[in-house]
Amino acid sequence: MNQNSLHKIIAKSKLHTLDASTNDSLFELRLAGNLTLIKNLYFSLYPEAHHAKDFEKLLMLLPKLFKARPADLKEQDLKRLKAGNWYQSENIVGMQLYVDNFNKDLNGLADKLNYFENIGVNFLHLMPITTRPKAENDGGYAVNSYTEVDKKYGTKKDLLSLTKRLRSKNMYLMLDFVVNHTSDEFSWAKKAVNGDEKYQKYYYTFPNREIPNAFEKTMPEVFPETAPGNFTYNEDMQQWVMTVFNSYQWDLNYSNPDVFLEMLTNLVKLSDLGVDVVRFDALAFLWKKLGTTSQNLPEAHSLIGLFRMCLQVVAPGVILLAEAIVAPTEIIKYFGENEMKGNECEVAYNATLMALLWDSIATTKTQLLNKSIPYLPTKPKDTTWINYIRCHDDIGLGFEDQDIYHLGLDAQEHRKFLLNYYCQKLDWSPAKGLLFMYNPKTGDGRITGSGASLLGLETGIEKNDTDLIATAIRKIKMLHSIILSYGGIPLIYAGDEIGTLNDYSYQKDSNKKEDNRWVNRPNQDWKVIETLDKKETSQSRIFHTIKNLIAIRKKNPIFADNNNTILQQHHNPHFLIFERTSEKQRLLVICNFDGNVHTIEKYWFDQINFAINTKTRDLISNKTISLSNNVLEIGGHETYWILNTM
Ligand code: GLC
Repeated sequence: MNQNSLHKIIAKSKLHTLDASTNDSLFELRLAGNLTLIKNLYFSLYPEAHHAKDFEKLLMLLPKLFKARPADLKEQDLKRLKAGNWYQSENIVGMQLYVDNFNKDLNGLADKLNYFENIGVNFLHLMPITTRPKAENDGGYAVNSYTEVDKKYGTKKDLLSLTKRLRSKNMYLMLDFVVNHTSDEFSWAKKAVNGDEKYQKYYYTFPNREIPNAFEKTMPEVFPETAPGNFTYNEDMQQWVMTVFNSYQWDLNYSNPDVFLEMLTNLVKLSDLGVDVVRFDALAFLWKKLGTTSQNLPEAHSLIGLFRMCLQVVAPGVILLAEAIVAPTEIIKYFGENEMKGNECEVAYNATLMALLWDSIATTKTQLLNKSIPYLPTKPKDTTWINYIRCHDDIGLGFEDQDIYHLGLDAQEHRKFLLNYYCQKLDWSPAKGLLFMYNPKTGDGRITGSGASLLGLETGIEKNDTDLIATAIRKIKMLHSIILSYGGIPLIYAGDEIGTLNDYSYQKDSNKKEDNRWVNRPNQDWKVIETLDKKETSQSRIFHTIKNLIAIRKKNPIFADNNNTILQQHHNPHFLIFERTSEKQRLLVICNFDGNVHTIEKYWFDQINFAINTKTRDLISNKTISLSNNVLEIGGHETYWILNTM
């Protein structure tokens, strides 16, 4: 049982009165309940011998932050405590988008809420909307502030009115908290450049290369092509600054407790705008230590836990998403371990599943997926995944080499094949992606491209090849059927629901052309959307298929995430089969990653005690399942959602 579950139990007894004094007393109970953990985490990072006074500052800050939280959000916090884990519900379906690429600005977005309602989306991840440098800014991930809305998106008032409307429609909002770094134009960075030593200590600044060189020995590079190394020399300051991502993104120095206090304040202020889920950006990088990769360090986990425990005291209705695109066994740790189990982030990207789906598409086989997933530890009870096909970033091949070796394959060759398959190096591959950040030293590379282009739709359209187009559409449907049924919040990238292709316009923009992730961040095509109900096109077929899958998901509580997803193994290497179970129902999701028909024999269903009878239905086609000649035929790239009620 995690801390939030405890707060829920305590709150329940008081919830018949939602007045201010109940709220205050519950705050105090939460503070008392989390205090020991907060203290232990704090002193593990900032030893008591030197930081007792700093800890007092934190204890003084929490009530102030609580007091400043808007009354309607406080009330909502309590309702959330009562309602259970909304984020695990089958009712939640998400979409990720850049506000400007979607419909100009925040008001433009607000005008399109009916679009989300129409398809069934009720959870939005808006990409950064806060102020940023005018030139390169990593899509807003170089922040000039944490709560000021950039003019191009509108005003803070627009944001507040949007969050209010979303709340009134029971829609949820996720915004980024770029917790690892600020831009070099952030007020602290400017003060540092002007020689203010206090603020130089907010970052990792060094007068010479001695320590940077020592760090470089073990720190990998995130953007080796465009931002090699992890440090940048600032002429004005005459210092080296740690810049793990781009040269204009300065890493915050969390070994300084003042940085933690300021960032906690920023986190709460962001939450106070009406954010339901805070996306902790690049959180694996939060703690740096000489002699290590400075990723996934135990101290980073303590720091995230500390943020979590404090935010929970102040705003218990707000949850955290871990943006940890790291090794499979590391991702799961961001839910918290041991005493902190379930007490770090409630949600994490299921980057492992995402990468393995792309592996399965390219190879037409699911062996690596079936080999890797069952060996991962089960996530804690009150947590969930974000399941996605792709996001605004590149697709990394984030699975373990040893699992590839176990299949009798050479890991390096296998990865090379995948890069070639997706990045237009194989004549026969329909995928149209681009190679991102290829590092010739290591042979590592990542993939960019829109979902539809990676799945062959762009090539099909170019060649006017109806078979290729039909196959691409089946693949799009299959991958969406997986993220919608796997257990967790499905997050669709805006545009993928209408099969949007790569957008090459970034190549003409000097601030974007070096970063080909922009190829998979297209504008929303409202002209196409207008025609969806009027004519039958590839786009309308994709849209209506996904809309139907969403509607089915929402009608069936078996899709809620209760840690009830089990992979089922079948000897045919082309199948992905997983089961969702509840007390009264069993659901089998069956996908064929090959283009040819494959069969499942009756004895296989018998083996797993899954009865095929007159009550067994495929939810997608809404037809009863029947075997012919004792086998079930699964067409090329076809999906079944087979439900059995006991
Ligand atoms: C995250 C974002 C990515 C950004 C990076 C640095 O990984 O998803 O887009 O470049 O953080 O902020």
